[in-house]
Amino acid sequence: MSERVIPLIDQRAPERVAAPAAAFAQATRISANGLLADRLGRPLHDLRISVTDRCNFRCSYCMPKEVFDKDYAYLPHSSLLSFEEITRVARLFAAHGVRKIRLTGGEPLLRKNLEVLIEQLAALRTVDGLPLDLTLTTNGSLLARKAQALKAAGLNRVTVSLDGLDDAVFRRMNDVDFPVADVLAGIEAARAAGLGQDDKSGKGGGLKVNMVVKRGTNEQEILPMVRHFKGTGIVLRFIEYMDVGATNGWRMDEVLPSAEVIQLIHAEHPLIQLDPTVAGETAERWGFADAAGRHDKAAGEIGVISSVTQAFCHDCNRARLSTEGKLYLCLFATQGHDLRSLIRAGANDTDIESAIGHIWQGRSDRYSELRSTMGPDTATLQPGQRRVEMSYIGG
Ligand code: GTP
Ligand code: 5AD
Ligand code: SF4
Ligand code: SF4
Repeated sequence: MSERVIPLIDQRAPERVAAPAAAFAQATRISANGLLADRLGRPLHDLRISVTDRCNFRCSYCMPKEVFDKDYAYLPHSSLLSFEEITRVARLFAAHGVRKIRLTGGEPLLRKNLEVLIEQLAALRTVDGLPLDLTLTTNGSLLARKAQALKAAGLNRVTVSLDGLDDAVFRRMNDVDFPVADVLAGIEAARAAGLGQDDKSGKGGGLKVNMVVKRGTNEQEILPMVRHFKGTGIVLRFIEYMDVGATNGWRMDEVLPSAEVIQLIHAEHPLIQLDPTVAGETAERWGFADAAGRHDKAAGEIGVISSVTQAFCHDCNRARLSTEGKLYLCLFATQGHDLRSLIRAGANDTDIESAIGHIWQGRSDRYSELRSTMGPDTATLQPGQRRVEMSYIGG
């Protein structure tokens, strides 16, 4: 077995923030008209906002216990963007063409009074005057308690992370001995609250379950998960274990390629590939087939997210706002653009809007594609650079 090396360093690298966003505010004005494109012609569609860097789980692929222990220095409250600051930035992103907002963490439901933020975000409109598609990624542990209030505040839908149905496997994967039954109760509560009905993207159910698959750890859970969720209206998606961050000791031999996942499921539940519903989608969609080989809509669909074996950077339209207000242009970035200092220096909306425009126009990130041709790390890392952690930037 190869030795696992875990660097005990602060992964957030605050000292290496990219060119201060303020510099962009001074450059030629870019006003928002919803037509922004980056250097590879990709629009800005999706804003993922991390509202806390904390989590009550310790999934080894995301927040391994050895690093995220009791001495780990989480961000102090004063570093976090306030709800008002988040909403202001989100409004300016919406003016630039953002149509979907996903709240992430860490575990977003750990952020106090999150419903207040949701209410504020639900009042925003896209450039076409429509409400945003407002969603959230959660580990489900607090969902049973909070689903009703989230829906009432204006949340459209949720995605729950769940890596298996077997209680022992699940407890091992979350590494805090959390029982699977409580997450299943959370999913049920979300459905009962109506968080599965309002899917503005028009595809399948609004309620999704994401399972990260690690070869040798939870692959035996794939079929039980399919059997459990088939026909429920909940869309189950399998995610290839990624080399995101710098602490999870990622190894290619622990990645189970999505093609193998599809093959395994297809042998028991025949599948047919479905068209994408929107450009830039992370998941490839597969529908359960009926006896005639057509999509059986009542049985539903599954998805696979294959960022390791089939990179989808070519139409990546996602921007990420970290808990402390840094704008990241890629999940695998080493640096973010500090919007918080711009905001707290008293910049007006036009300045911030222009800074966002410049930052997006300069974007050429496509880490997963580079990794598949050049291999991990060599693709983008300069000596001394570290990639941002997923718990800090959000999935
Ligand atoms: P829907 O709108 O519900 O389809 O959501 P989504 O697929 O945009 O988002 P979700 O948070 O459900 O993404 C699922 C998983 O895909 C994340 O947890 C990541 O593991 C992975 N993922 C999402 N966005 C990216 C991305 O831009 N790059 C890479 N490499 N992986 C991503
Ligand atoms: N690989 C793939 N997905 C990951 N996530 C976190 N870490 C990884 C990783 N290393 C995603 C999972 C989880 C969400 C919060 O982040 O989808 O459900
Ligand atoms: Fe927490 Fe989600 Fe990361 Fe697991 S994957 S440690 S639940 S943020
Ligand atoms: Fe987008 Fe970066 Fe993911 Fe590629 S690796 S899809 S550019 S976030």
